[in-house]
Amino acid sequence: MDRRDFLRAAAVAGGGLLTARSAPLAAFAERFRGERALASTGIRAAAHTPGPLYIPPTVSANGLTLTARAITAEIAPGVRSPVFTLGDGPVAPTIRARAGERARITLKNALSEPTILHWHGLRPPEKDDGHPRLAIDPGAEYRYDFALNERAGTYWYHPHPHMRTAAQVHLGMAGLFIITDEAEERLGLPSGDRELGLVLQDKRPDGEGRIAYNVTMGHDMMEGLLGSAAYTNGVRLPSVNVDSALYRVRVLGAGSARIFRLALSNGKPLTLIGTDGGLLERPVSLPHMDLSTGERADLLLDFSGLPVGTRVMLQSAAFDPPYRGMGGGMGMGGGGMGGGGMGGGMGMGGMGGGAVIRQGAAFDLLEFVVAREVRESARIPERLSTIAPVNTAAISTTREFRFRSAMMQHTINGDMFDMERIDVTVPFGATEKWTFINDGPFPHPVHMHAVQFRVVERVGVRNQLFPWEQGWKDTVLVYPGERVSVVATFDAQRGRFLMHCHNLEHEDHGMMMNFAVV
Ligand code: C2O
Ligand code: CU
Ligand code: CU
Repeated sequence: MDRRDFLRAAAVAGGGLLTARSAPLAAFAERFRGERALASTGIRAAAHTPGPLYIPPTVSANGLTLTARAITAEIAPGVRSPVFTLGDGPVAPTIRARAGERARITLKNALSEPTILHWHGLRPPEKDDGHPRLAIDPGAEYRYDFALNERAGTYWYHPHPHMRTAAQVHLGMAGLFIITDEAEERLGLPSGDRELGLVLQDKRPDGEGRIAYNVTMGHDMMEGLLGSAAYTNGVRLPSVNVDSALYRVRVLGAGSARIFRLALSNGKPLTLIGTDGGLLERPVSLPHMDLSTGERADLLLDFSGLPVGTRVMLQSAAFDPPYRGMGGGMGMGGGGMGGGGMGGGMGMGGMGGGAVIRQGAAFDLLEFVVAREVRESARIPERLSTIAPVNTAAISTTREFRFRSAMMQHTINGDMFDMERIDVTVPFGATEKWTFINDGPFPHPVHMHAVQFRVVERVGVRNQLFPWEQGWKDTVLVYPGERVSVVATFDAQRGRFLMHCHNLEHEDHGMMMNFAVV
């Protein structure tokens, strides 16, 4: 094999990142190499005519005012629904800044309930981090002013008030926070109209197609809300016109409990170039990838050579989740049926708008329509960035955190969240290994504030790390029976920060703790 072929093969195999762990990555790539036609039988929402993708405005972080308010917005063709917004559409504006700039942002609360914003993945000081203790009342405002000393990457922002995070995110208060820098610009990645940001959610439209945040005390509070319909940028299964060229598509998982298995309906691979904390070292070509709540994927999608009129669906492909959800995973098999399982009972009917899509069932997210044939297109770079190896020699402390959901309580190491209690104290500058152990029946996407970490090990159930868990991460999915270890250096800030499950109902109902960096 010549050098180019070797590089391509190396990229497919994970490029030797996490050297000690490259064997499982290579095995993953090998196993899926032949899986080409995987997603070619996507399930279309019955009788749904896609409306246009909502593209939120792009705004600068320096001198920004965001007003949280309730409005009505078009969330499907001809359907206006009450939503919560931070701009004037069904998802929040895209904030774009350069590394090294300052974020000077004023939040105004025009809702009739408390709110506060958190900048997920960024590492601002405690006063700017959106801890629920900082929530402001209706009519009040909060000023943020912090440095953006971060890698170029796809971060996001959302509310974090005590017990109301799920509702506010569900209703539309979530947006991308993109950081760029010169090194990234030199790569010549697709930009401008050929860069898209996608906020993926699932909701439960009523018979008229309107949304609300309604959860049942029993089931939804345990597994977390699973929707009956998919929304991209706040709009139900929309459509977007593209050129026959390479696109950069930044994707955020922002459902409550939903795990998306991203794939394209034409069987073409996804090229993953970045994860939560920015670019990988090399692109990885994948037939599909998983994305849980809070995680981001920076993807290159190639529409070049496709004739005008070609439709390609971004889908969540079918998979067998390695757990038995209360309303799904009960051996129903068929995609999109969901909701009929034992224990599904109440509230699984999607409030009159159709059956809940069980975890792992296939569904469509967004339709790309090739509308213009072009010749020029960006190329996929062979190298993207440099990521230092994990410094395991620097680990001074190893800690274990047990996540458990039982008896309507979601706990970490046996405790429900208490805003004032400090659960763990970490010396400033320390490098620690934190092991997240899932002792319960539901998956937990575990998120840490104030750091970007590296995922170093998964023991149990899936027993491997995946290509989309490379690089800098702030959220990692832990299935029941798994122990997942991450390594983080606490050198960004001193103060009180949060670690929590990012399943939004779990987070709101106890599965969160404070750590203090001192
Ligand atoms: Cu996405 Cu505590 O945050
Ligand atoms: Cu966060
Ligand atoms: Cu959880």
